Amino acid sequence: MILGIESTAHTFGIGLVENKKILCNVKDSYTTKKGGIIPIDAAKHHALVCDKVYEEALKKAEVNENEITAIAFSSAPGLSPCLIEGMKFAKRKAEELGIGVVCVNHCVAHLEIGRMTGAKDPVLLYASGANTQIIAYAGGKYRVFGETLDIGVGNFIDNFARYLDIGFPGGPKIQKLAEKGEYIELPYRLKGMDVAFSGILTKLKQIHDSGKYNVEDLAFSLQETVFAMLVEAAERALAHTDKKELLLGGGVGCNTRLQEMCKIMCKERGAKFFVPENSLLQDNGAMIAYLGEIMFNKGLGVKDKDIDKIDINSKERTDDVVVKWRE
Ligand code: ATP
Ligand code: FE2
Repeated sequence: MILGIESTAHTFGIGLVENKKILCNVKDSYTTKKGGIIPIDAAKHHALVCDKVYEEALKKAEVNENEITAIAFSSAPGLSPCLIEGMKFAKRKAEELGIGVVCVNHCVAHLEIGRMTGAKDPVLLYASGANTQIIAYAGGKYRVFGETLDIGVGNFIDNFARYLDIGFPGGPKIQKLAEKGEYIELPYRLKGMDVAFSGILTKLKQIHDSGKYNVEDLAFSLQETVFAMLVEAAERALAHTDKKELLLGGGVGCNTRLQEMCKIMCKERGAKFFVPENSLLQDNGAMIAYLGEIMFNKGLGVKDKDIDKIDINSKERTDDVVVKWRE
């Protein structure tokens, strides 16, 4: 049984996994009414809630902590103060229980958890807060075929939602507003398989300030435009790699309009579409435990004195990780 800890950004989460089965997935997220996430404050939040989340996870799974075989934690990438809190907690528990530690890359965990859906060799559309990448597995690594040239699509949506003063996270709120909106043309920023959002963000703010359109229309047009960019990039990757599956990952993947657009595109080109449930798309401890277990079973855990040498890596990219656990 592997315990997984997630603490890369706003969420402190703990999940327990045994033989690829998720026993529990508990989290507590730091939120702000105004402004962006302040890393030090998010880290303080994590330090405050970690023991409570841990107890709740054990209770939900109805297990004793002595049954845990190893502790997995997201060691990369993310906000350093937040990553450090997760690592401190992982090392403390590993020492108390006398067990090993597995270091997991958060982005790769977002992708690997998608394999629970039955996708075998998909093109991955990874759309989260800080990341937006079109990925496919090839030659021992998750290769990035296309990505955002500036900000992540989730951060773009959150930024505009904050501008509208509707709070954080903005994704679900924009989705709700979009239900009643009509289309306004916005810039479309797709180059090859790369996308960019900051120009669209500026344009949206200008249109909003002009007072000519209501927020519903802005939300609708935002979704139609940027999701079309993502789906077109994903389609190019499918065509280029000749793969027959598309897998959606990351928190923005919760968006039902994005899911619908992916479904339509896949149907049109005879590909299969996969998406995990919402609790596994957003930051969570279960995905860390899930990949942690796979890595642990391949001997990729760290034991005893070597645990002291473990450190975080706030900048490690998806394609930096050598995937030693896949055949
Ligand atoms: P990363 O994985 O890149 O480090 P993160 O950890 O911040 O980023 P996730 O937890 O995977 O990201 O996703 C959070 C993002 O998902 C937020 O930007 C949030 O607004 C967005 N989101 C959540 N639900 C929806 C939705 N229904 N529609 C659009 N966006 C959504
Ligand atoms: Fe994430």
